Amino acid sequence: MDALANSGDQQVEASQERSYDALIDKHGFDDSKVEKIITSYLQEQELKPFQAELINLQQHLEATKQRMIILFEGRDAAGKGGTIRSVTRYMNEKHYRVIALGKPTEEQRTQWFFQKYVSQFPRGGEIVMFDRSWYNRAMVEPVFGFCTDEEYNNFMKGVVGFEKDLVRQGTILVKIYFSVTKEIQKKRFERRQNDPLRQWKLSEVDVQAQERWDDFDKVKYEMLKHTHTAAAPWTLIRSADKHLARLNAIKVILNAVDYDGNNQELDFVPDDSVVISGARELE
Ligand code: ADP
Ligand code: AMP
Ligand code: MLT
Repeated sequence: MDALANSGDQQVEASQERSYDALIDKHGFDDSKVEKIITSYLQEQELKPFQAELINLQQHLEATKQRMIILFEGRDAAGKGGTIRSVTRYMNEKHYRVIALGKPTEEQRTQWFFQKYVSQFPRGGEIVMFDRSWYNRAMVEPVFGFCTDEEYNNFMKGVVGFEKDLVRQGTILVKIYFSVTKEIQKKRFERRQNDPLRQWKLSEVDVQAQERWDDFDKVKYEMLKHTHTAAAPWTLIRSADKHLARLNAIKVILNAVDYDGNNQELDFVPDDSVVISGARELE
């Protein structure tokens, strides 16, 4: 019996070795790759205990039937998508949804502006993450002329009360704005152009993000000035370092909910060179 099992193990080992050698022959391998793999492994290890806390947070929401909404905003290539993936990686899929709405349909254009978002809002116990949100009307839409001045002004007036009401009626709302520099955005776009795994992210709108950088600066300032409120503050995350951006975004989310079972060994204090209050950005 043992001998049989051993020979089975040996066969598996031999076949693993063959495929290992074949893969190295095919793709090559050097020290820089080793360093990349080790770094990414260590970064994953660093995220894991916090990702485990997110599971506790989910369980708390489920037990108390609380609703939670997280907005992921920021310019193109600011790291919203990747952060959402780290947040959800180990979560219970039954209790969260990620919503990334595309160009509005003809029908949506005739609805109340908030309707397409509200129709996605969470039930008790659920987290809904918006990869871009109603804040499209504060940034992308005015910059690209997808809305009228009147629609923009209406939004800027109405959104504050809308969010205040949402929060007053018990929804936990977290608004995260990912911040990039112009140079980093440019680099990330170049990478998207050249990488078949990332090309799909490069959209019509992205192509113009660099040219319209200053227009985005203006609307971003207005957005923070008018929509950073006591009931629904903005948290800014500098995303130059993607790993730190993800780790700190997770901390911000964890700190927004008073759940049981905090792991006492973890440091939940966000890094203040990465996480900035929306109010501080306006100073
Ligand atoms: P993302 O960066 O989120 O992958 P895009 O860069 O394609 O997506 O577009 C940015 C945002 O602008 C998206 O939320 C998209 O829905 C919105 N958008 C694109 N075209 C229009 C349009 N014609 N009217 C209103 N919103 C639009
Ligand atoms: P946004 O992505 O809209 O927040 O824009 C980023 C802007 O913030 C850029 O114009 C940068 O110059 C500035 N910025 C980004 N990161 C930093 C940083 N670490 N310190 C100071 N300014 C920064
Ligand atoms: C980003 O900010 O990077 C965008 O959401 C694109 C993405 O990562 O999917």
